[in-house]
Amino acid sequence: MCGIVGYVGGEDASDVLLDGLKRLEYRGYDSAGVAVLNGPVLDIRRSVGKLHNLDVLLKKSPLAGHVGIGHTRWATHGRPSEENAHPHRDASGRVVVVHNGIIENYSALKAGLQARGVKFESQTDTEVIAHLVGEAIARRKKKDAPLAPEDFLEAVRETLSELKGTYALGIITADCPGVIVGARRECPLLVGIGEKEYFLASDAPAILSRTRHAVFLNDGDMALLSSDGVKLFSAETGLPVERKTTHLPWDPLQAEKAGYRHFMLKEIHEQPRAIEDCLRGRLNVDEIRVHLDTLRLSEEQIKAFRKITIVACGTSYHAGLLARYLIEKWVKAPCDVEIASEYRYRDPLVGPEDLVVAISQSGETADTIAAIRHAKEKGARTLAICNVIGSTLYRESHGKILTHCGPEIGVASTKAFSSQVVVLYLLALYGALLRGSLPRPDVEKIMQNLLHLPHWVGEALKCEPATIALAKKYFHSRNFLFLGRNLNYPIALEGALKLKEISYIHAEGYPSGELKHGPIALIDEDMPVIAVATQGRVYDKILTNLEEVAARGGRVIAVATQGDTRISALTPDVLWMPDMPESMAPAVNVVPLQLLSYHIAVLRGCDVDQPRNLAKSVTVE
Ligand code: F6R
Repeated sequence: MCGIVGYVGGEDASDVLLDGLKRLEYRGYDSAGVAVLNGPVLDIRRSVGKLHNLDVLLKKSPLAGHVGIGHTRWATHGRPSEENAHPHRDASGRVVVVHNGIIENYSALKAGLQARGVKFESQTDTEVIAHLVGEAIARRKKKDAPLAPEDFLEAVRETLSELKGTYALGIITADCPGVIVGARRECPLLVGIGEKEYFLASDAPAILSRTRHAVFLNDGDMALLSSDGVKLFSAETGLPVERKTTHLPWDPLQAEKAGYRHFMLKEIHEQPRAIEDCLRGRLNVDEIRVHLDTLRLSEEQIKAFRKITIVACGTSYHAGLLARYLIEKWVKAPCDVEIASEYRYRDPLVGPEDLVVAISQSGETADTIAAIRHAKEKGARTLAICNVIGSTLYRESHGKILTHCGPEIGVASTKAFSSQVVVLYLLALYGALLRGSLPRPDVEKIMQNLLHLPHWVGEALKCEPATIALAKKYFHSRNFLFLGRNLNYPIALEGALKLKEISYIHAEGYPSGELKHGPIALIDEDMPVIAVATQGRVYDKILTNLEEVAARGGRVIAVATQGDTRISALTPDVLWMPDMPESMAPAVNVVPLQLLSYHIAVLRGCDVDQPRNLAKSVTVE
């Protein structure tokens, strides 16, 4: 959670930092701050609330200087307030720190510091780092001489050895002007290499407008940034380490709103393009081949796997639930889907004969990373499906498949979900081809359908005016029930998650067959029921369920196939989808649910891109 930016270069640091923070605001947005070094003068500005408040403060009270660090916060320790906002200072005010992650032993460290007479300004875990670095610098400082960068690095390194927990850190000190020290343990951190300017950032979008060359730090790495360039070191040994520079594949324009009112709306509309990008170069219909070059699994391994386990959280978990249907049907292999935060603390029966697939947009979700590490320890082969090149999950998994949907900035996941679904279609087809579990003509047909998917998703987007009308009719409702069955059950869950996270309306997703086992008791005219009921083999079943709802005075909103007169006889509130093959329906049917949630949230005056209490990537447990 939280976002970090650091800058060393020729421009006004506070402008660059603020611009970077704006691009990271989706990471956390309850307070923000920057610290800038002007020669040996170090100054801070912090404010509670959205970044706009910091912007206003900096206009009133600017900071001059070419070196600095900034932070946008998602509170863990201590409520959102000016004192708890980062950067945090040491007792002398000469050291400041920005931090993502959690220092688990901060209470013990704080008690030790307090026993030495240190006074604390905040309730955060981070502040201990500033004081410890301040003390370590004081031990190294020679009277009237600036601190050498190596000594600053050593002071931080000594402090790191005392910390338990997770961190991405950016630190500057008035004693060593012109230098930023960064460090990482289990929280993402990268260094951007520009034209005579260098950046520290928790996420790539912060630097995309200035450079696309990045070095991703490994756990245990430290970085020293100055106008001379960037050097990396091991926190354990203090010795230099080499990491390769990665070219970031994202176009900086993809991280802009491009005229849309919200990133979420832009990202919903980007889905046909995102699916095309995800499919590009991966399907060869003539030869009936699927190319997944970075899978790093031999044909023998794929054929031999005993079981596939998918681990993920939130929306990515819903993509996993859908994959189970595809893997069972097409690959004819057993497939479990697990919520990563549960899996990591279980004792799953997993071993070298298993494949564990992690799905994560960010590649930085703490629980998903822990789940994959757990599986690796047990000898399983691991595969990451993620959107962020260089992310922790991407680097730590044996094989990887990028979803290529471009940066997703809206906190609620939309295009990332569609592209995950597409990758899972590809993976299931790939497995089916290798295992020979699906007749080749069927594979060919599915391939053709996949190539047509961007068109069907484009058709689904045309229902936006109808979603606006329905949003106006229903946005006062306090509860919603989402129903789906078979392939559309994960879509019902996803629809309910979208609605609750951006509009704060209570919503539950159910397999429609479960209705009679309890939830039907909730049905009345105040509980709209949203049903995903496009044509397919369980269509009749779900229709029966909807008739049961209607018979009890429930109001039904249906996602249905164009021309379905049985649905239009049942309810006037229908979102019409194109006629499409059943297997493609989930990737299309999710679109009207995303749009409906979006427009309901807008009508309720919610902050769609930055919903309360949420942050884009959940890098803490
Ligand atoms: C919902 C949403 C979250 C994420 C979840 C996992 O819209 O965005 O539920 O899907 O936090 O995140 P990733 O995919 O980055 O692991």
